[in-house]
Amino acid sequence: MEVFPEGLEPMSRSRATPEEAYAANRDNWDGRAQVHAASATYDLDGLVSDPTRVSAVVRRDLEILAPHLPDADRRQGSDGIPRLDGLDLCHLQCHIGTDTLGLARRGARCTGVDLSPRSLRIARDLAARAGQEIRYVEANVLDAAAAVGTQFDLVHTSIGTICWLQDLAGWGRQVAGLLRPGGTFFFRDSHPMSNLMLDTDPSVMTPAYGYFPLPPGEVFTHDDGVTYTDGDTSPITQPRNYEWSHPVSETLMALVDAGLQLVEVGEHQDLPWPQHPSMTVEGEAWVLPEPWRSQVPVALSVVARRPPLRPTTG
Ligand SMILES: C[S@@+](CC[C@H](N)C(=O)[O-])C[C@H]1O[C@@H](n2cnc3c(N)ncnc32)[C@H](O)[C@@H]1O
Repeated sequence: MEVFPEGLEPMSRSRATPEEAYAANRDNWDGRAQVHAASATYDLDGLVSDPTRVSAVVRRDLEILAPHLPDADRRQGSDGIPRLDGLDLCHLQCHIGTDTLGLARRGARCTGVDLSPRSLRIARDLAARAGQEIRYVEANVLDAAAAVGTQFDLVHTSIGTICWLQDLAGWGRQVAGLLRPGGTFFFRDSHPMSNLMLDTDPSVMTPAYGYFPLPPGEVFTHDDGVTYTDGDTSPITQPRNYEWSHPVSETLMALVDAGLQLVEVGEHQDLPWPQHPSMTVEGEAWVLPEPWRSQVPVALSVVARRPPLRPTTG
């Protein structure tokens, strides 16, 4: 059944096991990785040639996260961007490593995790060219704790994350397993309210998808022959993509049920990419026009903490 009205980008409901969906998504991201590595959007050469460069995504992430880091009052960099010195950081769904490199440049000792081997090949090459030591591990996020095998002060994931995961309770457990006691988790992505909206007619913003998860066994499917980088029309070898929707409650409870404490939950009016055609640039981000801007949150962020160990008495 097609969910979008005719003429709009189709997103259909279909049936696939999570294993079938992850295998298709891995091939899809492998194909996109090649195109992304050559794109102006990711600009790998520019990133290598300017050792101070950190993406707008990382800068905004750190603006939200920094007040909640250990030693927060010492972390403001002289360039106005927070520092992550002394922290072991695991970057989930790191893709071709551009933001992992940015996090490493802020001082963190980084490990990146991704499902797509071709993305990681590009990420390793980028780190080597930029002279940063970064460990990369190929794994499904849902197996990440065992695949990585160590724990971190900070687990970071943002912008293009949980829509590719079916089992959010499992995701929460992996995040908890990757954190040291007292460690911090950071999440930011498009808001599920924004994900269900369509505004191809600039005067109308229409809810087009359900907010709540699809029944078990069902998954959203779409075939995108090209990818999202600026003006790229290079064909993607495996265009099929599978996605799941997750309400705010499911995301938060996945973390709480895994034993994490919520530190801050944010709902925002800005996203680093134009999810809706009516969005306009404001500073380094994209925002909806009014009145939608005041009506629909476009991003959700979460800072959570694994409780520290209690001191033993006696
Ligand atoms: C939009 S990109 C993320 C971009 C990221 N914000 C960054 O730093 O560049 C999505 C990434 O998620 C990865 N991915 C998708 N499903 C995954 C899964 N189940 N486990 C691990 N990685 C996955 C893809 O391979 C892709 O590299």
